Amino acid sequence: MICLCLSGTTLESWGEQLERNRRWISLVELRVDLLKPAERVPATIRRWWESVDTGLPLILTIRRPRDLGRWEGDEAQRAYLFEELLDELHPTYVDLELDRLGEPAWDRIAQRVHAAGGTIIRSHHEPRETPQELSPLVARLAGRSREIPKLAVQTNSTADLLALLRAAEEFKHRMPGRRALWVGMGDHGALTRVCPSRFRSAWTYASDGEQEAPAPGQIDPQTLKELYRVEEAHPEWPLFAVIGNPVGHSRSPEYHNNRFIDRRRPAVYVPLLVDDFSLFPELADLLGLYGASVTVPHKEAARRLAGDNAEDGGTGALNTLLRVKSDDGSLRWRGINTDIEGFLDALRGASTLPAGAKAAVIGAGGAARAIVAGLFRESLVVHLFNRTVERAGDLARELGVPQDNVHGLPEIAQPEGERFDVIVQTTSVGMDGTTDPIPFYRFHGGETVLDIIYTPRETPLLARARAAGCGTLNGETMFRRQAELQFDAFCRLIDDGEECR
Ligand code: ATR
Repeated sequence: MICLCLSGTTLESWGEQLERNRRWISLVELRVDLLKPAERVPATIRRWWESVDTGLPLILTIRRPRDLGRWEGDEAQRAYLFEELLDELHPTYVDLELDRLGEPAWDRIAQRVHAAGGTIIRSHHEPRETPQELSPLVARLAGRSREIPKLAVQTNSTADLLALLRAAEEFKHRMPGRRALWVGMGDHGALTRVCPSRFRSAWTYASDGEQEAPAPGQIDPQTLKELYRVEEAHPEWPLFAVIGNPVGHSRSPEYHNNRFIDRRRPAVYVPLLVDDFSLFPELADLLGLYGASVTVPHKEAARRLAGDNAEDGGTGALNTLLRVKSDDGSLRWRGINTDIEGFLDALRGASTLPAGAKAAVIGAGGAARAIVAGLFRESLVVHLFNRTVERAGDLARELGVPQDNVHGLPEIAQPEGERFDVIVQTTSVGMDGTTDPIPFYRFHGGETVLDIIYTPRETPLLARARAAGCGTLNGETMFRRQAELQFDAFCRLIDDGEECR
């Protein structure tokens, strides 16, 4: 279920948020603390709720600043407002904090809610960090069997997400079938929001995309429903992820989820920010991950993880990890690199290059690996140009580029230097839309110029190349093609049945 958290400061803005999102939601949270004090009039709130007539169940919440809310009164005033609101509204759920448990005024509210057929959400927020040992906290949260425990923690690292996931797993085994809510706030916790079924969360909290989210990391209901299929997704659906650091701007979730939807496949694909790759195998095990797209900076670590089962095309890097069953029944990692084919398809589409044609590769980071391997496969002569020459030298040694073909960036401008047939830009320079890694290079117009960047669609380098008459191509085709090949690999994995869990 998707719960829209109403975050405006007036009832009018709540109405607008509801209107924009009602198609995608099945639950509404009234965050009364976020309303301006003058708007917190229970009878007016009731009339407004009746007028919007959603027919949806309601969560009533008044959050304190320590839990990321804006309630500025004291606790007696807050309890009084709850009582007044309960005179007017019949919420399906009321959110009360763990630290109020057992206090007479607050237990009275809980009893009143239960007597009216409602349910208490027993919540605890950790707005700064995730305690690594969560079991005692979860035990207290779940102390009353009629309540729904809700744990919301700021997840600052992969270790934090793992701690939350372990707690959710333990809870599932101890109390099978019991409803709960697990929220990882912040980028590291995105998984809890887009794939609540993995945590067995009863629902996920969403916020209107046009407003600032009231809790870090909340996503809009339309994306949750239409892209991540939160309402349909079953915990047993095959799960895939893009792992990297950062992953927030990756287009892979959009691409792969839309393909799964088009093909009517019950599978979901999530962004997974991984800051420490050594934790990834345990995370994947706990999640029952089927496979992953691997992005910066983990492609080489992924190669090491797959060991003998890596088809890296000579790059020393993988962009795709697949979890497959060994003959003895255990699970192991296998890996492929679809970046090479993605690049070659783009290159072949952009020009026909004879064997022996000369290629300049700008950059010597992770992205250059598949490019160099691809150029070798087409029998081109490769020259590497990099800001840090030593780094290019190391890459050249690893991939078999002659050291004579390793240069600093300015050397590409030397008039007596090589004339290149193809130039491939592999650094992040140009993503800002203003910088050019080789502003001193004058195009002769015969080069084919590829830039791996796709946002912006035309980097300053590509714009200069095009103006000089060169054929140009941005990273879009490369991205799409490597993703298509990856998607095919994911589908084969699913079709091979149960072998990945
Ligand atoms: P990756 O994860 O792909 O290895 P990276 O370490 O940020 O990413 O570097 C990618 C490439 O971009 C490198 O060739 C890097 O040059 P250095 O080896 O000299 O670091 C290059 N790069 C990054 N920022 C740059 C800049 N401002 N100017 C020139 N090259 C740059």
